[in-house]
Amino acid sequence: MPKYVFIETLGCQMNVLDSELVAASLVRAGYELVDSPRKADTILFNTCSVRQHAEDKVYSALGRLKHVKERNPEKIIGVLGCMAQKDRELVFRRAPHVDLVVGPGQLGQLPRLLEQIAAGEGPKLEVSLDRKGASRPLVEQSFAHFDPARDVRPLGGRAQAMVRVMFGCDKFCTYCIVPRVRGPEQNRPAAEIEAEVRQLADQGCLEVTLLGQTVNSYRDASQGRTVRLSDLLERLAAIEGIRRLRFVTNYPRHMTDDLLQAVRDLPKVCPYLHVPAQSGSNRVLQRMKRGYTVEFYREMLHRVREMVPAATVTSDFIVGFCGETEEDFQQTVDLVREGRFKNSFIFKYSPRPGTFSAERYADDVPEPVKRRRNNELLAIQNAISAEENAPLLGQTVEVLVEGPSKVSRKPSRQGEINQLTGRTACDRIVVFDGDDSLIGRIVPVEITQTSAFTLFGSVLDRPKP
Ligand code: 5AD
Ligand code: SF4
Repeated sequence: MPKYVFIETLGCQMNVLDSELVAASLVRAGYELVDSPRKADTILFNTCSVRQHAEDKVYSALGRLKHVKERNPEKIIGVLGCMAQKDRELVFRRAPHVDLVVGPGQLGQLPRLLEQIAAGEGPKLEVSLDRKGASRPLVEQSFAHFDPARDVRPLGGRAQAMVRVMFGCDKFCTYCIVPRVRGPEQNRPAAEIEAEVRQLADQGCLEVTLLGQTVNSYRDASQGRTVRLSDLLERLAAIEGIRRLRFVTNYPRHMTDDLLQAVRDLPKVCPYLHVPAQSGSNRVLQRMKRGYTVEFYREMLHRVREMVPAATVTSDFIVGFCGETEEDFQQTVDLVREGRFKNSFIFKYSPRPGTFSAERYADDVPEPVKRRRNNELLAIQNAISAEENAPLLGQTVEVLVEGPSKVSRKPSRQGEINQLTGRTACDRIVVFDGDDSLIGRIVPVEITQTSAFTLFGSVLDRPKP
């Protein structure tokens, strides 16, 4: 009899990829995926710990499952990912009905752990070593990779896939929990990445997004000559069938000319760069230990605009970081006004226990001030996003069709006219009418209306099958 598993994923694309790999490994082990926890006998949360809010959501979802577990003790409840690595035993203390806690570096063990729990072995905890508690090689080994075990069958036959090129992070920005929960920076060998992308291309994948916490610092010297991200992109661009290559997230200091040349010269590499600035104030950047000044960031942006004028740039900002004054905030506003980002993700600072800033600096910007700065910056960014999208009116863009749009994400019969959504190479979201057969294809769309977040249009002609 098949066992039914439900996976809820919070957080970033790294987590989305982890959930896909977990799902594939469980399907191989005889599980069937279901779309609701009610239908499942195994309920898994793949968690995020980058902000408090993401953790609160998981603990309250776990709280709601307490009675479900009491009534159905055979159901298995598991907590995976970053919060599992950060909280460890604390998860069992806060939610005693949880059966399983597994960190991001141990996900490959899931099928075995679930089997052991089902066999009555009791709760299981598998996490990687603490970065402070052991030597670097031992810690690295404890963050085990399982990407090479990727299932050869595409999940849902999609035209898009994510491929991890590096694990972990060594930057230790003072606010960030990632280096602790995802471990030391480790680069995957280029040959392994190339083989995975080739396999995806053979399965009909058109677009690959390379993932790394600081993806543009990618370096692989395992085969002698160092392979940089620009070299890797060149190798991947040569793979037949692949039409688009993306990479996220970039670290400003590593935005080198060779990479920008690759974006400019390789037609398959999307002219889209996510380069988080975090703040426009040098005082704040220094406290964040970001390793660059706002002048450096501006110069980097200038280089991007000179070398790849067609590129869209997006950013992340944290408002209300420890000690951020109104003047510091105004400098961030200035950077947002000048930067002309396609969009920015704006976050209120959330102290994460175990990080430098949570331990050494006071979280001294009151919540209403954080909220006000967040809203103010968002309003400025949104106006810029709308202005940046406006010139696309009347243009024809190439859209990779992802699926039904939010409004038409309701069951529909095959071939019925739907509203679809997809993205341009520059990562603009485009919504238009079309039938399901367009999903997974790249189609020309003429833009008839624009807004800050979305372009609307109509498909010009049907692509050849
Ligand atoms: N509080 C608020 N935002 C944070 N980020 C990372 N850590 C924190 C934190 N403690 C934001 C950064 C990063 C994005 C993924 O999340 O802007 O780029
Ligand atoms: Fe966190 Fe900084 Fe690493 Fe990004 S670069 S994951 S913000 S420590």
